[in-house]
Amino acid sequence: MLDVVLSMTPTLRFLVSFALLYHYVCCDTGFCDNSRGEVDCSEPAINNYVISKTDVILNAIFACDCLEKDEVLVYTVATEETDGYVRYLDSAKEFGIRPNVLGFGQEWKGGKDIRLRPGGGWKINLLKEALQKHKDETDKIVLFTDAYDVIFVNNLDEILKNFKATGAKVLFGAEPFCWPNPELAPMYPEVKEGKRFLNSGLYMGYVPEILKLLYRKTIEDEGDDQLYFTEAYLDETFRNSIKMKLDHTSTLFQNLHGASTEIEIYASESKEKKTPEKYVVKNYFTHTEPMIIHGNGFSKLTLNYLGNYVPNMWNSIEGCIKCKERTLNLTNKPAKNMPLVYLAIFIEMNTPFLEEGLQKVYNLDYPKERIHLFIHNAAKYHTSLVKNFTEKYAGDYLSFKQILPEDGTPEWTARDLSLDQSAAKNVDFYFSLDSVVHLDNPQTLRLLIEQNRTVVAPVLVRPGKAWSNFWGALTKDGFYARSKDYLDIVHNKKRGLWNVPFVTNAYLVRSSIIKRYDRSILTYNKPDTDPDMAFCRALRELNIFMHVSNRVDFGHLINADNFDVTRAEPEMYQIFDNEMDWEARYIHEEYQDNFAPGRVDKQPCPDVYWFPIVSRRFCNSLIAMMESYGKWSSGSSYDERLEGGYEAVPTRDIHMNQVGWEPHWLKFLQKYVRPLQEKVFLGYIHDPPRALMNFVVRYRPDEQPFLKPHHDSSTYTINIALNQVGVDYEGGGCRFIRYNCSVVDTIPGWIMMHPGRLTHWHEGLYVTKGTRYIMVAFVDP
Ligand SMILES: *[C@@H]1O[C@H](CO)[C@@H](O)[C@H](O)[C@H]1NC(C)=O
Ligand SMILES: *[C@@H]1O[C@H](CO)[C@@H](O)[C@H](O)[C@H]1NC(C)=O
Ligand SMILES: *[C@@H]1O[C@H](CO)[C@@H](O)[C@H](O)[C@H]1NC(C)=O
Ligand SMILES: *[C@@H]1O[C@H](CO)[C@@H](O)[C@H](O)[C@H]1NC(C)=O
Repeated sequence: MLDVVLSMTPTLRFLVSFALLYHYVCCDTGFCDNSRGEVDCSEPAINNYVISKTDVILNAIFACDCLEKDEVLVYTVATEETDGYVRYLDSAKEFGIRPNVLGFGQEWKGGKDIRLRPGGGWKINLLKEALQKHKDETDKIVLFTDAYDVIFVNNLDEILKNFKATGAKVLFGAEPFCWPNPELAPMYPEVKEGKRFLNSGLYMGYVPEILKLLYRKTIEDEGDDQLYFTEAYLDETFRNSIKMKLDHTSTLFQNLHGASTEIEIYASESKEKKTPEKYVVKNYFTHTEPMIIHGNGFSKLTLNYLGNYVPNMWNSIEGCIKCKERTLNLTNKPAKNMPLVYLAIFIEMNTPFLEEGLQKVYNLDYPKERIHLFIHNAAKYHTSLVKNFTEKYAGDYLSFKQILPEDGTPEWTARDLSLDQSAAKNVDFYFSLDSVVHLDNPQTLRLLIEQNRTVVAPVLVRPGKAWSNFWGALTKDGFYARSKDYLDIVHNKKRGLWNVPFVTNAYLVRSSIIKRYDRSILTYNKPDTDPDMAFCRALRELNIFMHVSNRVDFGHLINADNFDVTRAEPEMYQIFDNEMDWEARYIHEEYQDNFAPGRVDKQPCPDVYWFPIVSRRFCNSLIAMMESYGKWSSGSSYDERLEGGYEAVPTRDIHMNQVGWEPHWLKFLQKYVRPLQEKVFLGYIHDPPRALMNFVVRYRPDEQPFLKPHHDSSTYTINIALNQVGVDYEGGGCRFIRYNCSVVDTIPGWIMMHPGRLTHWHEGLYVTKGTRYIMVAFVDP
């Protein structure tokens, strides 16, 4: 770096050395604490400073806030690095605040589960001890905050200014509940505005007064700190002696429990274009902008929601601002060094397009020798499919275990078992996937691992719907509720990484928590609760954050609600429920090319057009549907399926409505056939197209080998070849008599379209061998 500096012009060098000087003064002297965070102290600096000008030093001192150094002593208590702790420190760092962390690495001594029971006396005792060395610094101010459920949303200057404006020497946050002893409520002074009762999670005050407060009585580590401070506050003489006040209207301290509905994030408009908006937390009740937010009691989820935006976490221009921090980078990592993954797939119900779903899992760009594969299949219907998949691919994975439908293992048992297995295999990550998941992005697993969060899920949505694999909020009793930003996230209007209360279907879990908490704590098995709800509840109770990411597109969800496996080819019936997947499987891969600019359409005979439209798979499935139904018509002129009972030009056929497929066919007609028609028969627009006669015809030498010349009662007729001439049959084709023009080299999946009635008098040519199938519809009769 010194070389770089020396190669600069004198002016530039002056500015750079100025920066180095700032670094020295702010970070290295111990004289300043860089509390405004103007200098990045994590950057290394050069050791040899040449400090010449006094005014430069003074400037640096001023810029780094040195004069206020240590005016505020910030303390917190945290015993370990939880997700909430990381968030707390990140928020402090945003404002250059460096809290003194007490109790870190120690066993918590402040009583069990203080959210539900009293406790926390230990926090008082730790602070007493820590303040010993400052006991004579009478002009200093102590700021105490809890850690796991607190975020800073403003800087120390503002906090200090507002503290001084209150005139208090000791200031506590307030809340609407008198806790832990509600009987003390009447002893509290009445308040005109805001919250009446003391909360001990956030407070600040001058060193001498804080010390008086902390030494007023002794308290056991397991004693209750809030009760301790409450009693001090309710002692009027004592209260007045240290000028102890509560921040009733949350000018500084916002305790969220009981106040969540009064709080919202608010985007301040940026004055200049291109500079992003800034989010602040507003209390719409008291019209304040609190500076430290405490997700006390049962308000943790509100804090998680706010924490998605503040401080400086997200804006509409940069999106997720901190998402790139604390990430891993797997690029260029040799396969053998990649994190070990336990991939658990759960097939708990009959699921359309599972074949493609599993293929996408296999296609994940991740070394299979680093993946243990586990499959729980509870759906008998899928036995053959899963067998085919595992026979073909399971050997590629590091190990493979499956539970079959006949084992009868319930879902929650299988899920808990997979957690235990993953712990036993000592993997780094556990990746859970349900059968409805389609990971269209093969980078999904890599990207989720690189995100380096305890639990992270890709945002997956049923295409075009608001149904997703996460919830933005919860009702009081733990069910679905919609957060304000839910739809924006689902529709990718906001992209980022979101802390949410519930994820399902697909998520990656850092294995350390699975190893740490056994199945009595971290489990899918809770009475009367769905497995995923039980699991997420356990995570919430452990204050483990669940994130969902829509930083990029990862995939989508299948809708398995109306999947009727009693039908032959059940996926053919999924055109409404899973349109996108239906199209991917059944529409010809060249279909879109029909609309390419400058495309010359095939026209084998005058006004007979020919387009690729459906896949071979569609053709085979349609034939299978018909053959499975099997009730081909007699081919005689009497046809009981028709209203008049008479068919002038009878064929051996089955109508779409006989196999319950008419609505699906009409949708197909409207979505895929109509645009082709509008393209070649200009000016004729009929949307949606109507068609009463929709059927598959079977031609066979021994049954009905041909069809005599006729007109169709249609505006136009379509005819899709379903199988292969020269392979499945010989002969056949269609001859347009007026033009003496035949189409005999039909291609499966291609549609022929020609006008009906007057001009296109035609006949079906003789099939000499095998069976020929075509799909016919008379459109707009
Ligand atoms: C990954 O996350 C953990 C927990 O937050 C953190 O301690 C670690 O430093 C992160 N890794 C990287 C490379 O940032
Ligand atoms: C990850 O590492 C590769 C080189 O190993 C580098 O090219 C790439 O920019 C890194 N990605 C990120 C996000 O830092
Ligand atoms: C499994 O493979 C066999 C043999 O290729 C095939 O006949 C069967 O249809 C396949 N099952 C499924 C559900 O795809
Ligand atoms: C019709 O076409 C066939 C072959 O393309 C030809 O042999 C026949 O003579 C034609 N018939 C008439 C009436 O033009």
